[in-house]
Amino acid sequence: MSDYIWFEGIPFPAIDYQKEIIGEIRDKFVIRDEDTIILTYPKSGTNWLIETVCLIQNKGNPECVQSVPIWDRSPWIETKSGYQNLTNKEGPHLMSSHLPFHLFPRSFFRSKAKVIYVIRNPRDVLVSGYFFWCNTNLVKNTDSLTTYFEWFLKGNVPYGSWFVHTRDWLSMRESENFLLLSYEDMKKDTMRTIEKICDFLGKKLEPEELDMVLKYSSFQAMKENKMSNFSLITDDLVTNGLVLMRKGITGDWKNHFTEAQAEAFDKVFQEKMAGFPPGLFPWE
Ligand code: A3P
Repeated sequence: MSDYIWFEGIPFPAIDYQKEIIGEIRDKFVIRDEDTIILTYPKSGTNWLIETVCLIQNKGNPECVQSVPIWDRSPWIETKSGYQNLTNKEGPHLMSSHLPFHLFPRSFFRSKAKVIYVIRNPRDVLVSGYFFWCNTNLVKNTDSLTTYFEWFLKGNVPYGSWFVHTRDWLSMRESENFLLLSYEDMKKDTMRTIEKICDFLGKKLEPEELDMVLKYSSFQAMKENKMSNFSLITDDLVTNGLVLMRKGITGDWKNHFTEAQAEAFDKVFQEKMAGFPPGLFPWE
């Protein structure tokens, strides 16, 4: 079991991360106007969105998503391998990040680069993260949901507090180059979300092309696609295989939280997310 790498109060997974790189990225990494960034707190539907955007960029043709690993199609800015990959590749870039606002490359805030930020019910994020990280040697982990629940509320989980991450990034929600999506809306009306993304990215797709995007980004298609389902990640990183495509539903937290946990979570949510307009969080 590995512990974290800590950088300015934020815990990062112990493998493929390095303090110097995280600092360097914030100060020196150049994000350009034509770049697109998929930004999330981990376990919010990041990979679903990457798949969707890649398919939109290819007008629904699945060749790319079926032949290139998902982390090469949209490298993680803050990992050693992703940073290297992006530095060596000509832009425009599609890239992913889980970085909190205060650690994000400063160049972004002077650019017109587009960010798509996905939020998800933090209760489902908690449960998804618990089952995901538990099988890995990437982070400090526990086989008790009770312990993980406490860590999550304190922000002692990969990338820190969900509440801080979400509050800080939502401060950009009125910006033109910021598209806010939710996992819940993506599930409820996937086609509507695909169309929103197309509008935001300035892509015009024919109805048949949109149908292909929908088809190849479905839970089942991604689960069967070894370029997207994390089955290419080797055994030395994970003990029982890394399962990305677990359930893909909303509200699974109800199967795992006790009544006391549900109440405690509500209280913290209301305290920490006070001040946001009602309706911003579709699960509340
Ligand atoms: P669960 O663990 O609740 O099943 P991330 O990509 O940010 O790590 O998020 C992973 C979560 O997104 C997992 O949630 C996974 O099942 C879900 N997910 C991935 N692809 C999906 C898809 N095509 N449709 C619905 N959910 C998807």
